[in-house]
Amino acid sequence: MKISVIGSGYVGSVTAACFAELGHEVICLDIDKRKTDLINEGIPPIYEEGLGELLQKHAGKNLTATTDYESAIRKTDISFICVGTPSAEDGSIDLSIVRAATTSIGTVLAKKEGYHVVVVKSTVVPETTEKFVIPLLEESSGKIAGKDFGVAMNPEFLREGKAVYDFMNPDKIVIGAIDQKSGDLVSKLYETFKCGIIRTNPSTAEMIKYANNSLLATKISFANEIGNICKRLKINTYEVMEAVGKDSRISPKFLNSGAGFGGSCFPKDVKALIRKAKEIGYSPLLLESVIEVNEKQPILMIEMLQRKIGSLEGKKVAVLGLAFKNETDDVRESRAIPVIAELLRLGAKVSAYDPMAIENMRRIFPTVEYFGNARDALQGADACLVMTEWDEFKQLDSEFEAMKEKIVIDGRKVINSKKVDYEGLCW
Ligand code: UDX
Repeated sequence: MKISVIGSGYVGSVTAACFAELGHEVICLDIDKRKTDLINEGIPPIYEEGLGELLQKHAGKNLTATTDYESAIRKTDISFICVGTPSAEDGSIDLSIVRAATTSIGTVLAKKEGYHVVVVKSTVVPETTEKFVIPLLEESSGKIAGKDFGVAMNPEFLREGKAVYDFMNPDKIVIGAIDQKSGDLVSKLYETFKCGIIRTNPSTAEMIKYANNSLLATKISFANEIGNICKRLKINTYEVMEAVGKDSRISPKFLNSGAGFGGSCFPKDVKALIRKAKEIGYSPLLLESVIEVNEKQPILMIEMLQRKIGSLEGKKVAVLGLAFKNETDDVRESRAIPVIAELLRLGAKVSAYDPMAIENMRRIFPTVEYFGNARDALQGADACLVMTEWDEFKQLDSEFEAMKEKIVIDGRKVINSKKVDYEGLCW
């Protein structure tokens, strides 16, 4: 099939490369020429495992990139909207980029002959496709959805760092189409996958995505709540949750307690669902607590540190791990952000290290001192906070010798060293 993918960020570039790998003709569209140039050269615009290989293989062949909506939409039969939906101040999602992309697609559809399906892959709250995207498409194209063109909502469940693998090996495909014809066309794209395809309407598809992410986030906050209780009772919460996870109704995944969840999805999605619920007159107490627990976890680390070394004024604190999780350079909503902000507010001197995310964190905290390795960041430090579950931190031992006081507070259960005064956040 001929597919255009609007937006070349994390979701768009992976979706485009994977559809190309599945044998489709793919055109990437982005308003940022830097990104389209990179894709045309076979270079990923973001770091994602396996993406470089796929782009190298398909760029210039069945995968091209352009900044021109007209040609991208005209030359394809199906368009995936994969643009960002950032958090607005009030927790709702900012639909301005979706609006711009949708209007641009509609404007081309106005002049295009033949049936075209527009698929929303961006994460949008329930009712957005039906009440926002479709009216905009109809208005900008002068055509009618379901008659002149098709519409579907097809959420992604891709983990950063594992997105290519997840795309190719999904647990489920969800397609919420406005009619049989649009749904059938989108389903065809995924027919080689072994997993089941769930066919439904757009609002249900949107809600599946939010319920999915909110439940995973809830599991983490739940594990953190239990962890915080265990800590006070001197019980190892990892032992507890390992046993709990053996219940087949629960599963052992997403039960690791620690500094909490970050990333571009969980905090934003839970907040957007809370906001949507309130908008329609429901107060989602559980979801609000999920966020509250998550926001407290990094602050608990600072409180533990203060109990150990007193005032942080003038103290040197090494922060190991800046990315929101391992194997990514992404710092969005990283738990290291509130920790660094609080350390700076309390007058501490922060020395930071991450194997991949330093440049991204430098944009947020330009005055923090960054180091190229853990040992240098630990040099002369009074204490160390571990914020990301990087594998290389498991090997740290002799590196801790560089510290003045060997105090480590581990937010991710990665440190094995016997040479430090070690404290886990909630175990
Ligand atoms: C998540 C979802 O997994 C994915 O399906 C969705 O499409 C996007 O959001 P991602 O943001 O890439 O993916 O990260 P994920 O691997 O799920 O981890 C999210 C955060 O939770 C990380 O900060 C991680 O450190 C934290 N986490 C995860 C825990 O604190 N404990 C756990 O047990 C698991």
